[in-house]
Amino acid sequence: MMSFWQSKDPAAPISTNHPVAYADRLRIRQPGDAGFALGPHVDGGSVERWEPEGYGLGGVYNEVFSGNWESFDPWESSCRLPVESDLYNGAGACSMFRMFQGWLSMSHTGPGEGTLLVNPLFSLATSYLLLRPFFSPINTNPASSGYLDELNWQLDPIQSSTLQGATLGCTQELTATLHPHLDLTKSMVHVPRVAPGDYVAWHCDTIHAVDKTHAGETDSSVLYIPSCPLTDGNANYLARQREAFLNGTPGPDFPGGKGESEHLGRMGKADVSAQGGTEAERAMGLKAYGGDSAFLAKINGILDLEN
Ligand SMILES: [Fe+2]
Repeated sequence: MMSFWQSKDPAAPISTNHPVAYADRLRIRQPGDAGFALGPHVDGGSVERWEPEGYGLGGVYNEVFSGNWESFDPWESSCRLPVESDLYNGAGACSMFRMFQGWLSMSHTGPGEGTLLVNPLFSLATSYLLLRPFFSPINTNPASSGYLDELNWQLDPIQSSTLQGATLGCTQELTATLHPHLDLTKSMVHVPRVAPGDYVAWHCDTIHAVDKTHAGETDSSVLYIPSCPLTDGNANYLARQREAFLNGTPGPDFPGGKGESEHLGRMGKADVSAQGGTEAERAMGLKAYGGDSAFLAKINGILDLEN
């Protein structure tokens, strides 16, 4: 799946052929639950998308900010490598570069039953939310006719520091009030009904949300499993995650504690090998990469593993 992404720099230190594992969450949502509701949002930071020290380090959205939004390529990977997407120690922020967020369904779940909604406008929506802070309505009454008309919106002659829906340390939120042209009440669409074993993936820039209430009859349960390429940064996190795995403690991005460290019979390296062989061991940072590639040799060094 990561082959949808391309690097304009063939020498960029990234491989989509060597996926690495990010140990994320398990979610069990019971029927009737309204507490887990998540409105439309984009993960991977918020204000960082506008900051030179954030996504600006790789110029990820330069085409949008320079007015060439039609040329913005959301599938170019090398520009994402220098990105700092978490400058404010956001709670629950993911330290790995995820090309796709994803989940593996553990239950039979349909629309309205505590499942996922995504916004298929994708890069158009990305361009809109990035440019939104630079424009204001002339007639500010949202109920007035012509409120959404392009003639009612002007480039602000004096910019403020307001970034609609972006708060330090939080994910980027989208609302009907702050982002009226996205028409979120209509443009957020459910993923189809899923069965246990179905995998749902969405690009890391995609606006997504979770049903406000779970109106189904049975639990809605998923394992969060993103798609992460092999990069220096991801290998650095993988080394720390490996230590946590071997010690039975929560992954580095999660609140600490004893975790499973005192559990009897918890999984270890031998279980990873038995279940998934060499590929699984490598995805977990437990085995060196072979071959004579300089990139993989560097990764082995980061992981403190010898080929
Ligand atoms: Fe999310």
